[in-house]
Amino acid sequence: MYNPGMSAIFEILGKDAGGRIGRLRTPHGTVETPTVMPVINPNIQLIPPKEMRNFGAEILITNSYIIYRKEELRSVALEKGLHGLLDFDGPIMTDSGSFQLSVYGSVEVTNEEILEFQQKIGSDIIVPLDIPTPPDVHFRRAEEELAVTAERLEAARRLIQGEQLLAGPVQGSTYPELREKAASYLKDLHFEVYPLGAVVPLMEAYRYTELVDVIAASKRGLSPASPVHLFGAGHPMMFALAVALGCDLFDSAAYALYAKDGRYITVNGTYHVEKLNYLPCSCPVCSRYSADELRKADNREELLARHNLYATFAEIRLIKQCIKDGKLLELVEQRCRAHPKLLDGLKELYSHSPWLEQLDPATKGTFFYCGPESASRPEVLRFGKRLDRFNLEGSVIIRTTPVKGEKDYDQILIFKAPFGAFPAEMEEVYPFNAEVPKFPDYEALTTALSNTLKLIELNPQAEFTFICEKEFSHPLIDEINKKAKLVYREDWREE
Ligand code: GUN
Ligand code: ZN
Repeated sequence: MYNPGMSAIFEILGKDAGGRIGRLRTPHGTVETPTVMPVINPNIQLIPPKEMRNFGAEILITNSYIIYRKEELRSVALEKGLHGLLDFDGPIMTDSGSFQLSVYGSVEVTNEEILEFQQKIGSDIIVPLDIPTPPDVHFRRAEEELAVTAERLEAARRLIQGEQLLAGPVQGSTYPELREKAASYLKDLHFEVYPLGAVVPLMEAYRYTELVDVIAASKRGLSPASPVHLFGAGHPMMFALAVALGCDLFDSAAYALYAKDGRYITVNGTYHVEKLNYLPCSCPVCSRYSADELRKADNREELLARHNLYATFAEIRLIKQCIKDGKLLELVEQRCRAHPKLLDGLKELYSHSPWLEQLDPATKGTFFYCGPESASRPEVLRFGKRLDRFNLEGSVIIRTTPVKGEKDYDQILIFKAPFGAFPAEMEEVYPFNAEVPKFPDYEALTTALSNTLKLIELNPQAEFTFICEKEFSHPLIDEINKKAKLVYREDWREE
């Protein structure tokens, strides 16, 4: 529970786009987010939980329902506690059995029973028995199940009010309006962590467009100060995208499930070990074994699980560095080129640029234009929204690189796609110091030319001369030609 005398449970230390670096305090220690919680199966331990720290894990997650159901595990957990059972003294989150509920249709435990059990065994983050409503159900069903989830979460909040953190899962199927409503309702119950539930089917089907909308809608309903967990997300290829939307915690069963299937995780996708001729990684496993040796190893499953964990945490560290450097969106754009469906997710992310723009720091690392999607970044949108702040009078020249005689004009504006025209004095100022390709693509030109046109229209008292490059082939050039004097660069000398 929130305690005003103590330091906050979640502290945000750095931001970029919707992403953040945070510190989450739990009874068994503080963790830095974003991070992944490796899923520990209490029945099978391919890798001992305490070894998880060697990969970069700071917090684990396990399933209290599996422990509760099995007498041998339950008695040990009640006697020695969860941390004794798993032999791990750092933070451990426990799930409630809701996932089993979503897979098997029912569970043999009530919300109250599983909450009390998690409390007794000393879980650091307790999860109520929410109902994971799958995608695409009728609106009525999503609404009804949400009402049951809300009752259970209210009961949980009344029950759990100590040191232990309580999670409030956001449901609402594939209805953004229900997700936002659920989130803003739960916001007022003050959970310490907010998991976004029932997204596994979306991720399994590569439905990243809808996943982005579900995350964005839920985030809009929550306080930006709350930590958010994307339930069941374990593939590092989509971490950067989810972090940019404001997810702080992930959990990975993928490292073990994929290993069992002989699959080798990379940030660009997954390989089957039978089809790998080379190992494109330099983790301890991949440095010691050749692809052939890995395939034939007796402990292949364990080796693959280890590599999968290394690959997973390497991506987390890179994401954190990118947030520090203000380069998270560049990483997102790179990662989303690994799969066309992720590229759809990237486009959907930027459809939320008006919202992201409010969260994005005003100044950060140099903007790199990485492809047509970059033209829709929040920074570009922000510039377009602020064109009315420029007051131009007299003769104004708009050019890319300097031209002869430009000093004779009252004002010099630089044209740089995807932004548009801005005062030359701002050339070295963020975001105008952007690294952009010499020849802008169509999307960058569309944004830059329409912003330029808008600027011209906003300043009817000024007289504009636009120095156009011959490569700028775009219908908006004709529109600019109607309102400004348009001169092609190669014709300029003869003026
Ligand atoms: N694991 C994956 N999805 C979910 C969910 O929606 N709720 C809970 N409690 N656990 C999950
Ligand atoms: Zn490796």
